[in-house]
Amino acid sequence: MADLTLPTRPEPPEGAEDVWLHCIECGHTLPPFDGVVFTCPECDGLLEVRYATYPTFADFEGDERVWRYAAALPFEEGVSLPEGGTQLHEVPRIEESVGVRNLRVKHEGMNPTGSFKDRGMTVGVRVAQELGVDRLACASTGNTSAALAAYGARAGLETLVLLPAGKVAAGKIAQASLHGARILEVDGNFDDCLDRVQDLAERGEAYLLNSLNPFRLEGQKTIGLEILERFYAEEGRFPDRIVLPVGNAGNTAALYKCFRELVQSGALAPGDVPKLTGVQAEGAAPMVEAIREGNAETRRWPDVETIATAIRIGNPVNAPKALPGIRETGGTAVAVSDAEITDAQRELAGEGVGVEPASAASLAGLRKLADAGEVSAGEDVVCLTTGHLLKDPDAAAKAGSEPEPVPNDTDDILAHLAGKDVDGGLLGRLRRLL
Ligand code: F0G
Repeated sequence: MADLTLPTRPEPPEGAEDVWLHCIECGHTLPPFDGVVFTCPECDGLLEVRYATYPTFADFEGDERVWRYAAALPFEEGVSLPEGGTQLHEVPRIEESVGVRNLRVKHEGMNPTGSFKDRGMTVGVRVAQELGVDRLACASTGNTSAALAAYGARAGLETLVLLPAGKVAAGKIAQASLHGARILEVDGNFDDCLDRVQDLAERGEAYLLNSLNPFRLEGQKTIGLEILERFYAEEGRFPDRIVLPVGNAGNTAALYKCFRELVQSGALAPGDVPKLTGVQAEGAAPMVEAIREGNAETRRWPDVETIATAIRIGNPVNAPKALPGIRETGGTAVAVSDAEITDAQRELAGEGVGVEPASAASLAGLRKLADAGEVSAGEDVVCLTTGHLLKDPDAAAKAGSEPEPVPNDTDDILAHLAGKDVDGGLLGRLRRLL
């Protein structure tokens, strides 16, 4: 049974009795919209959003979208495209080959800009409006920048994105560019970009919308709410395990917060909390290392590399929020190779689910844990696939089959399909000439 640290209810700061910010390190509290803060003004610890009351499932109403869950969010509505309500796919062939009771794939690539980041941005950009800031910024491995550019554009705000030069997939840069962000390519990796954007934010030059921003994670909690509601509607119980790719560990932190709040309200029994299971690429696995070694913090990996560029991250800033989530839910963390990621990407595509490499890491990790006997055959599992196949067309093309050049002639095409060499179409061309 999960033994979660519940959101306690210390005195909220004066004038902010419904919603406030709470430092997870020193317990300092502060009003949510009294100026721009990203970390605790007392100790620089991570902040999280706290509420006077936490909702049960009966409090959610409306379409299956992010704002259905307004009772769990700091606002009633936000800058919306709209986002959320993504499919929970059945994947029967993969389910059988992995060998679990039920396997579902929650495909977050079906959000408006093609990744789960939209859920955080609808809330984050709403907060930026509340604060009256005029320039938004993020560091990104690509998807955050695409989402920020689109939601910023929708809100009519200037957006600035800092990307690691040469390490962002083509689809994501194209999105950020067309939605009108100013794109700064930094000579460094994602962690360096995040350092730079934090400096800019501290100097008051921009409002930071990375997952260090606690309001982003509020929107991302809705992934967990949707999974629990939908799985329960289909199966009459909650899933045993949620497997997700981990980069900056924002999603892991958001799901953990979702579960804690539901347990706090009584909507979810501690015994029903899904085990949070994080997957990283072998070349960028500081969270896996921290879980394996029992550390309270991650060690910064200076050199990171993986085909899954979205999770090419060596210093997960949300680790202090996410590590307890993995531990308290009885989950684990596992690293997978690039080859395992590509195999999983092909497998998902073979069931019609097109995902980018980082997303396929979830399935690769599940398979690895199942093969090692760490996931049992009786489990109901949901794998989160975080971004769409078209985000990284180059990786998809490499993982897929080669195009075959054929002559512009039906007989030659049939001969080619039958495995006959058609001499570069010479026969067809001769026939057409006669
Ligand atoms: N999957 C995809 C497709 C992502 O883009 C990211 C993060 C993750 C997983 C990891 O999520 O950080 O919450 O653990 N992408 C960020 C970005 C870093 O800049 O787009 P996390």
